[in-house]
Amino acid sequence: MTDPYTEHAAAYAAHNAVAPYNALYERPALLDLAGDVAGLDVLDLGCGPGITTAELVRRGARVTGLDRSAALVRHGRSLSDACLFVHDLADPLPLADATFDLVVSGLVLHYLRDWSAVLAEVHRVLRPGGRFVASVHHPFSDVDIPSLDPHGDYLDSYGVADTWELDGTAVVVRFWHHPLGAMTAWFTGAGLALTDVVEPRPLPTTAEIYPEAFRRLTARPAFLLLGARRLGSGAR
Ligand SMILES: C[S@@+](CC[C@H](N)C(=O)[O-])C[C@H]1O[C@@H](n2cnc3c(N)ncnc32)[C@H](O)[C@@H]1O
Repeated sequence: MTDPYTEHAAAYAAHNAVAPYNALYERPALLDLAGDVAGLDVLDLGCGPGITTAELVRRGARVTGLDRSAALVRHGRSLSDACLFVHDLADPLPLADATFDLVVSGLVLHYLRDWSAVLAEVHRVLRPGGRFVASVHHPFSDVDIPSLDPHGDYLDSYGVADTWELDGTAVVVRFWHHPLGAMTAWFTGAGLALTDVVEPRPLPTTAEIYPEAFRRLTARPAFLLLGARRLGSGAR
């Protein structure tokens, strides 16, 4: 199966930099939840084009990042001196135990059918007391939206197909709907205690620049943010 993040990497990077869903909604909310990162060792899981990564570097973090798309990792390297490498989250992280104060993951987990292995890895690489902040597809956002072709009941995990325009062509992006209960069970099962559940609002300027997106995002959140703290001092 083709990967839109590789096939259309340059167009996606340009889109991600300015699109209201990213630049005025998800990114500010994720950075807000991450808090003060100055002096922290931060892992950006699924860093994509590296725009959030570069902002974490600008805010004083020492950042390592990874993504499955080599083209997006190359783009990310052009934006900051974060240590970025190509890696598929289907495989264990090639990183030592307890090396990060914070793991961030923007809009990545919903590409995974099952979060248990990756969250176990997040727990392993976090220092005791370290934090994990993630943004994901909001599980209510596809309910009753026929254009997203959801084919399951809310309480199931099921595939969703969204169509974006990139490079002037319609590109189908497939990801997973997971109910809130499944997400929280995966966090708890991995030893990550949930501290925050955030349904962000778009930045107020969105109302002037993109009034339709502002109206949509205010009526029906597209993304959900989850914050957690690593429990326990030893390996699980
Ligand atoms: C919506 S983009 C978000 C990129 C970035 N975190 C951001 O917020 O700007 C999703 C990213 O997840 C990456 N991704 C999806 N599945 C992955 C996997 N199994 N392993 C590593 N990266 C993956 C894609 O390559 C893509 O860069």
